[in-house]
Amino acid sequence: MAKVKTFFTCQQCGFQSPKWLGKCPDCNQWNTLVEEQSQPLPGSRALPTPGKPQKMCEITNSAEDRVSCGLAELDRTLGGGLVAGSLILIGGDPGIGKSTLLLQTANQLGKRGKALYVTAEESPRQVKMRGDRLGAASDNLYLLAETSLEQIRKRVSELKPDFLIIDSIQTIFTSSVESAPGSVSQVRECAGQLMMLAKGEGIPTFLVGHVTKDGSIAGPRVLEHMVDTVLYFEGDPGHPYRILRAVKNRFGSTNEIGVFEMQENGLREVSNPSELFLAERPEKTPGSVVVPALEGTRPILVELQALVSGSSFGTPQRTAIGIDHKRMALLIAILDKKVELQLAGQDIFVNVAGGVRVDEPAIDLATIAALASSHLNRAIEAQTVIFGEVGLTGEVRAVSQPELRVKEAARLGFNRCILPQGCLKNLKPPRGMKLIPIRHASELIDLIFN
Ligand code: TYD
Ligand code: MG
Repeated sequence: MAKVKTFFTCQQCGFQSPKWLGKCPDCNQWNTLVEEQSQPLPGSRALPTPGKPQKMCEITNSAEDRVSCGLAELDRTLGGGLVAGSLILIGGDPGIGKSTLLLQTANQLGKRGKALYVTAEESPRQVKMRGDRLGAASDNLYLLAETSLEQIRKRVSELKPDFLIIDSIQTIFTSSVESAPGSVSQVRECAGQLMMLAKGEGIPTFLVGHVTKDGSIAGPRVLEHMVDTVLYFEGDPGHPYRILRAVKNRFGSTNEIGVFEMQENGLREVSNPSELFLAERPEKTPGSVVVPALEGTRPILVELQALVSGSSFGTPQRTAIGIDHKRMALLIAILDKKVELQLAGQDIFVNVAGGVRVDEPAIDLATIAALASSHLNRAIEAQTVIFGEVGLTGEVRAVSQPELRVKEAARLGFNRCILPQGCLKNLKPPRGMKLIPIRHASELIDLIFN
C-alpha cells in the first residue's frame, strides 16, 4: 500500500512544511498551518499536448476561437469572448452576485451549445427559483447538484457539455486527497483536475471562488497561478453597481472592466457607465467636480466630492473613499504649500460617488479642485471636467489617452476641459469643447469658478 504522508499546509498561501509552525514563513500569517495528508496519485498528470516541438509560425489560431458569452460586458472583460479550453476564476465577496452572473451567463451559453451548471452550494430547486426570476429558460442549460469531483467528471464525460460552470471550487472535493473540502490541498487538487479536464476536452470552464476577509481568494495564490483568467466581481453592497475586473488574463488585457447593475430580476449590463455615475450629481454645489477617468481602455466620467470643515478636535480627520488615502494626503500638502490654501486643522473627506474606486493619478487635479471648491465654498462651473497628474512641486503632468477622456466628456455635454499642457499635443478638441491647458496647480483656482 502506498505510504500516507503527513504535512502541514498554510491555509492562506499554500506553503507546506513537514512540521507545525505557529507563523507561516511565506506569508507571515499566524496560526494558519493545518495538518493534511496526501497519497501519491495514481497515473501521471501531464498536460495532453503533443510532445513534439512545433514551429511557432505553423501553429494556427484564428479569431473564431473565441465564443461570445452573450453578455457584452463579460466578453469585454475576458478580452473579446471565451477561448476554448480556458479556465476562468471568478472571485468576490459572499452575496455580491457571482452565482447570479454565472447563471445568467450559463443561460446565454445554453443558446450556443450545451452548458452544464454544477451547483455545490444550493439545491437544483433553489437554483431553479433564482433562474425563474432571471428568466433563465434556455433549452440546453443543464443543472447538476454535486460536490464530488469524481461524479462531476463522470457526468461531464456522459453529457459532453460545451461549457462548464462550477459554483464553487471551495465546496467540491476529490477523494484522492484526504483533507477536508475547502482546505488548500483540496482546492488545489480539484482545480488541477478541472484544468486537465478543460484543456483536455477544450471545454471553457468557470470556477467561482470565495474571498477571504483580507480580500484574497481562499486557497489563493495556488489557484491564481493555475487558471488562465482571474476576474473579481466587486461592488459596494449598499449600491446596486457591480464591477467585473480582470486581474489576470492570458488571453487579453487586464484592467478591462465590465459594469453591471443589480436589479430585482438579475444583473443588467450597463453599457454607458458615465451617465449612470453622473445621474444624481448636484449642480452648483461646492465640493463636487467631474473627472474623466480611464478604466483600462474605457473612459468613465465620475463625480468626485470633497468636504472640508473646521475640526473641533486637535487632530483633524482625513477620510478618503474610492481614492488612495496617501495620494489625498499628498495633494492636501501641495494645496497648502504650492497653492497657498491653508487646510491644516480642517476635517477633510473625499468620496467618489456611486461606490466606484479610481486608482489613477489623472484624478489629482480634480481632487485639488474639489478640495479648493469646498474650502472656499464656491461651486465649480457645472459644464467643466478636469484631469491631470500633479507632481510634488505643484506642476501638472500629462496623463495617458487625453483624447478618449475629452471625447467622452463632450459626448455627455460638457463644454470645458481643464487639462495638462503636455496633453495638448496632437489633440483635436471635439466640437463645442473648449480646452484649457495649465502647467501648475496654482493656475487652477482662477479657472474653475465663474
Ligand atoms: P448571489 O448571486 O447569490 O451571490 P454570490 O453567489 O456572490 O454569493 O447574489 C445574491 C444577492 O443578489 C442577494 O443578496 C440578492 C441579490 N439579487 C438581486 O438583487 N436580484 C436578483 O435577481 C438576484 C438573483 C439576486
Ligand atoms: Mg453563490
